[in-house]
Amino acid sequence: MDVLHRRRRRHPGLSAQDNASPEFDIFACPICYEPLIRKGPSGLNLSAIYRSGFKCERCNKPFSSRNTFLDLTVTSGTREYTEFKPSRTELFRSPLVSFLYERGWRQNFARSGFPGPDEEFKMAQEYFKPVAGGLLLDVSCGSGLFSRKFASSGTFSGVIALDFSENMLRQCYEFIAKDDALLNSGCLKAPFESGSIDAVHAGAALHCWPSPSNAVAEINRVLRSGGVFVATTFLSTRLNTPPPLGPLGQSIGASNTYAYFKKEEIEDLCRSCGLINYSCNVDRAFIMFSAQKR
Ligand SMILES: C[S@@+](CC[C@H](N)C(=O)[O-])C[C@H]1O[C@@H](n2cnc3c(N)ncnc32)[C@H](O)[C@@H]1O
Repeated sequence: MDVLHRRRRRHPGLSAQDNASPEFDIFACPICYEPLIRKGPSGLNLSAIYRSGFKCERCNKPFSSRNTFLDLTVTSGTREYTEFKPSRTELFRSPLVSFLYERGWRQNFARSGFPGPDEEFKMAQEYFKPVAGGLLLDVSCGSGLFSRKFASSGTFSGVIALDFSENMLRQCYEFIAKDDALLNSGCLKAPFESGSIDAVHAGAALHCWPSPSNAVAEINRVLRSGGVFVATTFLSTRLNTPPPLGPLGQSIGASNTYAYFKKEEIEDLCRSCGLINYSCNVDRAFIMFSAQKR
């Protein structure tokens, strides 16, 4: 599997000859949003990524891979600074949770109506039919359960597995077919060029994101026109969402670990982020929804 969307961008200050190089990637700087320049072999396969160095042409920030994944976050390369995210993000950074994820944790979702990975994959593939042959981004891929299915289906020209948790990406690396690229990135700043991605999948992740609205807006930015977004999550129910406690409850820290939404809220969120052609499948607390970039 190789990259479809590699491209050379013309740099206004360079002559036609100079413009023949360097080569710009679909990966973008998380600070400037400019495409990164790659030094090394082209392609999305692991060995090409690991033998390459990346740099932002505007701010000069360098990025390189860390054994099992490429870290394109703002904090990549920091020596002293550590940043903690909300508990719903931190939970999945733990080595134990990452190890257990495909070894029992995910199977529990069936109790809420999730039909299971094989059926969820089939349903997602139906939604992705209009973008078959394109580049798919599996956002919050976890241990790569779906990234592997998408990659081995042969439907896509490339599959990029993306997560914020280093330990999930290590699990993903151990499981995944050798020709996917592993990226470590927060969903808030998916480091890709605008309009460079054909399909975005986010399995069981929306309820974990610190700001679903920023994340869905970002997904819309990276999708090309006509690109398809498919996601699953847990809907709010009386069991998983206590009655609102108002400002007092919030001030004493009585908030949920996860953020669950009603199906109307999810449709509203997609619409307000500029996505169109929304549709969904619901079974108890399970929802799979899809929407398209205008
Ligand atoms: C429940 S798992 C879903 C894994 C897989 N997609 C699936 O369908 O089973 C949720 C994933 O969201 C990731 N996640 C949490 N916060 C995130 C964030 N801010 N940015 C990107 N991923 C995040 C976690 O690391 C975890 O791998």
